[in-house]
Amino acid sequence: MRTQVAIVGAGPAGLLLGALLHKHGIANVIVEQRSADYVLGRVRAGVLEQVTVDLLDEAGAGARLHAEGLVDDGFVLAFGGQVHRINLFERTGKRVVVYGQTEVTRDLMTARAEAGLQTVYAADDVAVHGFDGDRPFVTWRQGGAEKRLDCDWIAGCDGFHGVCRASVPAGAIRTFEKVYPFGWLGILADVKPISHEIVYANHERGFALASLRSPTRSRYYVQCPLSDKPEDWSDEAFWAEFRVRLPAPLAEKLVTGPSFEKSVAPLRSFVAEPMRFGRLFLAGDAAHIVPPTGAKGLNLAAGDVGLLSRALAEHYLEKRDAALDDYSRRALARVWKAERFSWWFTSMMHRFPDNGEFGARMQLAELDYLMSSSAAQTAVAENYVGLPL
Ligand code: APR
Ligand code: PHB
Repeated sequence: MRTQVAIVGAGPAGLLLGALLHKHGIANVIVEQRSADYVLGRVRAGVLEQVTVDLLDEAGAGARLHAEGLVDDGFVLAFGGQVHRINLFERTGKRVVVYGQTEVTRDLMTARAEAGLQTVYAADDVAVHGFDGDRPFVTWRQGGAEKRLDCDWIAGCDGFHGVCRASVPAGAIRTFEKVYPFGWLGILADVKPISHEIVYANHERGFALASLRSPTRSRYYVQCPLSDKPEDWSDEAFWAEFRVRLPAPLAEKLVTGPSFEKSVAPLRSFVAEPMRFGRLFLAGDAAHIVPPTGAKGLNLAAGDVGLLSRALAEHYLEKRDAALDDYSRRALARVWKAERFSWWFTSMMHRFPDNGEFGARMQLAELDYLMSSSAAQTAVAENYVGLPL
């Protein structure tokens, strides 16, 4: 088998890259280790920046998100028992769209199937070869048979635990990492959301986040110890803890009910440099992780593949490689800005076991300062709605 771009991983990064390349007439095949159902079963964040919406439109996968996505002009910050608001639209002219990553993935899968593009699911032992030379290729096993895909370029869109970054020689890559001393316990429940705007709450018992997937489906989180398992938390225990962490005006609006999904996620900041190794490019979680406070993960992945698809289009259609040569630098410049914002927002909103009472008061003082400074609110709003490509 031969293609122009071999994409490893059919998460949002790989699927969106495949769709954008196809629009430029560039052939691509995706090789994914899991089944399509497994990929669709992963529940993740749900806030899309304008740049991400534009890229999904460009990819021809934006129709349902425009019909069903919930447009927000701002978000809510709760601390010290009070409710505050950051007005995104007034400060930046931009809004965000609340639309689950699972739905983004589903829309991209549907568009890919309709375009008749090839995706290999359930590929075992995927490996990438020859990217330091002129003839890269990808191999895997399926049903006992050895498979090989020759290509011009490999796009490593295989997430944090993928094979692409791990295949780069240690001396050629540098990584930067911070692991946070807590996790997020998240639930999905078919109950009316407390707010159509996302609520980030700083509370002495820990952070809480109220998000949503539709006018009748809520996505709520509480900060929890890393050692907690979803089974440790009954629905009753979750609702009680979540309610305590909300200021009264929001707690009064809380509707509870049975959850149908419950999971604990660790929080991590991670960057790999560079994002190109010869004929291998990294994009999305394969190259960087942000803690979910600020909802940058999916948007950064979309930004990466937006840049990469344009650079590959220049290569094939205009025979110019300047953008390919500049991909890593440009992507990393956006990545580090989002890393800073996600780290800052995480640091401001969570209980850190080692920071004590002084640390907690410093958070409140900084949040007070934020709400007293128009310039600071504008800076936060600009970071939240995201950077241009
Ligand atoms: N071979 C083939 N596929 C692989 C391999 C491998 N060795 N390892 C992992 N994969 C697949 C995974 O099964 C997954 O479907 O690569 C895909 C990577 O998808 P994601 O982890 O969703 O990463 P990405 O597409 O970069 O999406 C970024 O997803 O996790 C969120 O916070 C993240 O929101 C951000 C977005
Ligand atoms: C979510 O809807 O799951 C969500 C929203 C905002 C975040 C993180 C997650 O910052």
